[in-house]
Amino acid sequence: MLQKSRFRPSDPAVYLIGPMGSGKSAVGQQLARRLHVEFIDVDREIESRTEQTIAEIFDADAGESRFRDLETAVLGELSGRRGIVVATGGGAIMREENRRAIRNGTVIYLHASAEQQYDRIKNNTHRPLLQTDDPKSVLASLMKTRHPMYHAEADIVMHTDGQTSNRVAEIIERKLLSS
Ligand code: S3P
Repeated sequence: MLQKSRFRPSDPAVYLIGPMGSGKSAVGQQLARRLHVEFIDVDREIESRTEQTIAEIFDADAGESRFRDLETAVLGELSGRRGIVVATGGGAIMREENRRAIRNGTVIYLHASAEQQYDRIKNNTHRPLLQTDDPKSVLASLMKTRHPMYHAEADIVMHTDGQTSNRVAEIIERKLLSS
């Protein structure tokens, strides 16, 4: 297949969507490095703007709803930009406004089974939605609701079970340069 030689600043932004533990942040970093463009992680952007961790935002009065508004604000700002790689949070897909914002870019769904998600994030205590007795069943139940939405928005679906983030980034790079 004919490849273009490089990703251009005028190319549509690349949005990585998918559940917690699908590798959006790790793959996004590697992909941005390969494409020589800026990488933005929406969760980290929210933390740096508020000077609070995601867990602190969820814990405060307005909790998750404040977090969701911040997420929508960041995605709204990014939607005018091109030539960047963006890792979205796993729940961003739930708002129509967010879905509209990412449609300006190339949307890549990083799919992972609930088992694989759990394996990747079991030692990490920073995700408020998983601070329960049974994080595995939370992951499975979120996937049930969200998978059809991730799928409907995706231009490219990448299965990540058993793959390193570097390998996933390499495959995405090839797909982007041959499209
Ligand atoms: C969330 C996913 C998290 C983060 C927040 C809520 C979700 O992002 O935005 O904890 O609703 O699935 P990651 O998908 O990057 O873990």
